[in-house]
Amino acid sequence: MPKVVHTIAELHKILQPLWRKGEPVGFVPTMGALHAGHISLMKLSKAAGNVLTVVSVFVNPLQFAPGEDYDEYPRDLGGDVKVAREAVVDVVFAPSVAEMYPRGFVTWADQDKLTEKMCGEHRPGHFRGVLTVVLKLLNIVRPTHAYFGQKDYQQSVVIQRMVTDLNLEAKIHVCPIVREADGLAMSSRNAYLGPKHRIEALVLHQALVRAQELVAGGEKNVKKLHAEIKRIIGTAKSAKIDYIAIVHPDTLEDVNDVSGKTVFAVAARFGKTRLIDNVIVE
Ligand code: PAJ
Repeated sequence: MPKVVHTIAELHKILQPLWRKGEPVGFVPTMGALHAGHISLMKLSKAAGNVLTVVSVFVNPLQFAPGEDYDEYPRDLGGDVKVAREAVVDVVFAPSVAEMYPRGFVTWADQDKLTEKMCGEHRPGHFRGVLTVVLKLLNIVRPTHAYFGQKDYQQSVVIQRMVTDLNLEAKIHVCPIVREADGLAMSSRNAYLGPKHRIEALVLHQALVRAQELVAGGEKNVKKLHAEIKRIIGTAKSAKIDYIAIVHPDTLEDVNDVSGKTVFAVAARFGKTRLIDNVIVE
């Protein structure tokens, strides 16, 4: 069974001997409602030879804009501990909001440029919340290696940039997207989807696969690729597109044509459920 700790002090008691000996510690930050995508990150941490792997489960209020799903976000610590046990994780760190943000908290981490478009444009304040909590968690856990999913592509770029810019010690690993058998990217938010939206949501992956095929067939024209992605997502009646981005993998700037490594990222709402997906095309 993993040790489940709720305070920073308890966590540090476990970690201090490892820090002292310089043993590698792996860290997987999550908001819980753990699924196979999260499990893949835990397994990568174990397989990489980290002496101890910590998973944090914390629904971070700072990264939800007013009117978003902070209250509805699925919370099931009992279920998460079972998943962590199957993944042979050593420690589950599940702090309260008061433990993470005690009275008087006023300091934030923020970033220009990379956070201004895509999800940043549609979720005001989101990345400021993500950066702040991730910086705090990295300071609390002091991992040697930290594991993130490509599923949240922009988040992975923004976090890597923060680690570089602020000289953080952790080595960041970005791990492949785990999908359902039919292609839908795994997400804690998939639990919100009713049967109709669950089927419709497949258009995201279908559109990205189609774009990938077109590029493989020699299509470089961004306008044409964008139009085709839009058309396929539009075949789902309820889909409301937030954005379709065809961007450079590091700068997240729009590319003029698809010649080098390019990221295709999409976000759309199906009813109240907002889903994202992406592919990296070489
Ligand atoms: P959460 O959505 O719980 O995701 C935790 C980690 O799991 C993220 O790095 C995410 O990219 C990864 N992940 C989610 N779905 C995945 C999938 N299908 N395949 C592979 N990896 C997947 O992302 C967050 O939480 C938060 O913003 C957090 C970084 C914890 C800060 O609060």
